[in-house]
Amino acid sequence: MAISSYEEDSFRLASPDFSAADSDLEVSLRPKTLDEYIGQGKVKDNLSIYMEAALKRNEPLDHVLLYGPPGLGKTTLAGIIANTMGSQIRITSGPAIEKPGDLAALLTNLNEGDILFIDEIHRLSRSVEEVLYPAMEDNAIDIIIGKGPSARSIRLDLQQFTLVAATTRAGSLSAPLRDRFGVVLRLELYQPEELAQIVMRSARILGIDIEEEGAIEIASRSRGTPRIANRYLRRVRDFAQVIGSGSITLNDARTALTKMEIDELGLDNIDRLLLSTMIHNYNGGPVGLETIAAAIGEEAVTIEDVYEPYLMQIGFLARTPRGRTVTNAAYIHLGIPLPTPQKLI
Ligand code: ADE
Repeated sequence: MAISSYEEDSFRLASPDFSAADSDLEVSLRPKTLDEYIGQGKVKDNLSIYMEAALKRNEPLDHVLLYGPPGLGKTTLAGIIANTMGSQIRITSGPAIEKPGDLAALLTNLNEGDILFIDEIHRLSRSVEEVLYPAMEDNAIDIIIGKGPSARSIRLDLQQFTLVAATTRAGSLSAPLRDRFGVVLRLELYQPEELAQIVMRSARILGIDIEEEGAIEIASRSRGTPRIANRYLRRVRDFAQVIGSGSITLNDARTALTKMEIDELGLDNIDRLLLSTMIHNYNGGPVGLETIAAAIGEEAVTIEDVYEPYLMQIGFLARTPRGRTVTNAAYIHLGIPLPTPQKLI
């Protein structure tokens, strides 16, 4: 099986992608129940009803698809589902399942009521995906035995299980796969107040002293993403311990994050490069995604999944049918004079 993306590391501090350095921290901070899970109110309300109903009927939960930008807690929710349903969870990811046989092996090893969590499900190959269809629909897989004219297909029954899948790009799932999920939940970027509660909770668990204003400052620069907030909490603690009072104050958080080149809105160098390139090279847009990607040397999917959601949420970037445009608010934030209307000749 391929190395999963969990093992890839990222050098961008503001990246919401999982990096090896997050692993121990993230696991120790993961809430185990919906009551402990902060934010995502609509998702929690619906999920708790579906789980309670399934428990009352003594049935496994329907297959669940979680989608939304990276770092918002999709894996955490999968763990909460398993914990609430009293199930074992098996965790894997789309890129780690290379061949249909890999998935068949995983599925045939599941016990009654188990949860199979597949992260980045949009990265499954079509041939692997096709193994999932009968598994999700009929709790069975079809195995081809032999080759050529004598090949035949036999059906193997599976134990009843729940697939919990996560993706940053629901739009790239094939319709037949998407249609097989009974529960589809969209996670949204967190509000700063919710992130501040998450930072306070994480600090409590890690034994870090922090003032509420310090937590709010970290939260408001974490681009709506708990993974980033928890990462900044650790880095800010380093600064507070070495050059501050030990307990994280508003001033410590400000100093540390500014030194890390994260601005008051949480933008880092790459966000600023993206916006300023659009402004200086393309008059603020409209400009196509691929063009922006080539200009700043990032992949188009990374821009779409990682940078754009937050820039759109704060109203700095808009998607139009003719391409992306930078808004006036972004010019003002970057200190670049607003464009004057073109004179008609
Ligand atoms: N840690 C990461 N995400 C969290 C959340 N939504 N609630 C509580 N703690 C978290």
